[in-house]
Amino acid sequence: MQDIFGHLPDGTPVTRFTLRNPLGTEVDLMTYGAAIVACRTRDRDGCLGDIALGFSDLDSYVNHSAYFGAVVGRYANRIANARFSIDGQTYTLAANDGPHHLHGGRRGFDKHVWNATAFEHEERRRVTFFRVSPDMEEGYPGHLAVQVQYTLTDGDELVVDYAANTDAPTAVNLTQHTYFNLAQESAVDVLDHRVQINASAFTLVTEGLIPTGDIVPVEGTAFDLRAETAIREAIDQPHEQLRLARGYDHNFVLDRTGEGLVLAARLLEPTTGRTLEVSTTEPGLQFYTGNFLDSTLRGRSGRPYPRRSGLCLETQHFPDSPNRSAFPSTILRPGKTLITQTVFRFGVRRDAHVPPFPRIALFRAS
Ligand code: BGC
Repeated sequence: MQDIFGHLPDGTPVTRFTLRNPLGTEVDLMTYGAAIVACRTRDRDGCLGDIALGFSDLDSYVNHSAYFGAVVGRYANRIANARFSIDGQTYTLAANDGPHHLHGGRRGFDKHVWNATAFEHEERRRVTFFRVSPDMEEGYPGHLAVQVQYTLTDGDELVVDYAANTDAPTAVNLTQHTYFNLAQESAVDVLDHRVQINASAFTLVTEGLIPTGDIVPVEGTAFDLRAETAIREAIDQPHEQLRLARGYDHNFVLDRTGEGLVLAARLLEPTTGRTLEVSTTEPGLQFYTGNFLDSTLRGRSGRPYPRRSGLCLETQHFPDSPNRSAFPSTILRPGKTLITQTVFRFGVRRDAHVPPFPRIALFRAS
């Protein structure tokens, strides 16, 4: 199914596609930012709820920069001092995060209309988005052809396939920036979600959330999320890195023994029983707990999004990799095709513990 989600100020139409599988899961996508606009999944009672933060109208996507649901590029995350070099040639990028470069610059991939084709055949339904990022867009060298394909399977997986190639050496790091709240998009916060991240180390950051270059073990710290942990219990621990980022906004170095898909994270929301599993071929996962949301943006349901009302599980390479030769390389060269995959698997856990309601005693027995 497809319709027109809205028009840009210059009249360009933006198409919205809805993918629906036999389980009833629905994912709305749009050509602006190749973004996930909504994602409706079942809770443990079979009721559909929208678990992706976003706006009800296109103008809000155009006028704000929260990256709700978008594909982020050409380089997701930060590049220190908005500068990097390839083969001795230095490139200056748009500085849109203080002196640093964030999520592709002032007008990254999230702020463009992509071409799209939809395909549906029995158990496969998908939308493929395509765009060519011109040479020197936001300062990056080379024309970059990018394809992002979303497939919703009968097994309740949303498979995101990325492919890119270039006509000149360039830096590329693509991710999906959906903010999830498995309780429902309009729920107050994500603090009762239980998270598990399969990472024994993370990249340390300094002011401006720029990596120091150190990869440090999580063992014994608030960053050790290898066992299921309630976010509320971990996020306010007195840890310098949590203070710097006002919560989690860090790149976890995923544990893997080889190439291919690896389970990166699991999420459980206990009141609805909804679960989300994220697997990826990427080496890192930026876990961001919506620390910079501040109630100024109003979501689809009409309610403002306060701090920590959504969380992102952004599969990607490490931040500032073009300036860090010890990190896995993000340089793409002509003749090579970048291919990565991330799989979001929706589910429910029936045995999940439901927190008592109300959480405080309203009346004391006399
Ligand atoms: C970054 C945050 C940033 C957010 C919205 C996340 O991917 O890690 O630092 O505030 O995107 O821009």
